[in-house]
Amino acid sequence: MRRVVCPGSFDPITNGHLDIIGRSARLYDEVTVAVLINVEKSSLFTVDERIDILQTVTKDYPNVKVEKFHGLLVDFCRQHDIPAIVKGIRVVSDFDYELQMAQLNYRLSGVETLFMPTNPEYSFLSSSRVKEIARYGGDVSGLVPDLVHKLLIERLRG
Ligand code: PNS
Repeated sequence: MRRVVCPGSFDPITNGHLDIIGRSARLYDEVTVAVLINVEKSSLFTVDERIDILQTVTKDYPNVKVEKFHGLLVDFCRQHDIPAIVKGIRVVSDFDYELQMAQLNYRLSGVETLFMPTNPEYSFLSSSRVKEIARYGGDVSGLVPDLVHKLLIERLRG
């Protein structure tokens, strides 16, 4: 069984994330989407809400499951017998940051990191930008799954 993890905050998931998860699901037998529980950072959606959203929008991929984690990602990998992490790379500055993280994670545990170039259609996309656009009434349809679009409008505009 070839397993991989797609980690992140997913507050909320964007179509860029979903593209990486879907492509990973075609390459691996099992993909675990791991949602970070980060008590230091305020979020728009709770971890459980994000898990519900992720489960709904990945329901067409039978080999994708969704979990939450706290602490080190490599400890989560060890506990779940996952030997590799997939990270989407949008722009060169992502690579700068992700390379160090990948080397550190390998040094800590031997867990490998695979970089997947983001679909150019989504290379400008991030959860924070999506939230900012939605907060000020901009149109985020096409950038996030329809469910997320609906929930963003409900949450941000009452
Ligand atoms: O979507 P994000 O917020 O960019 O995801 C970042 C994430 C969750 C992948 C990263 O912050 C992470 O792996 N956090 C867990 C703590 C950890 O293992 N850090 C690396 C070693 S210091």
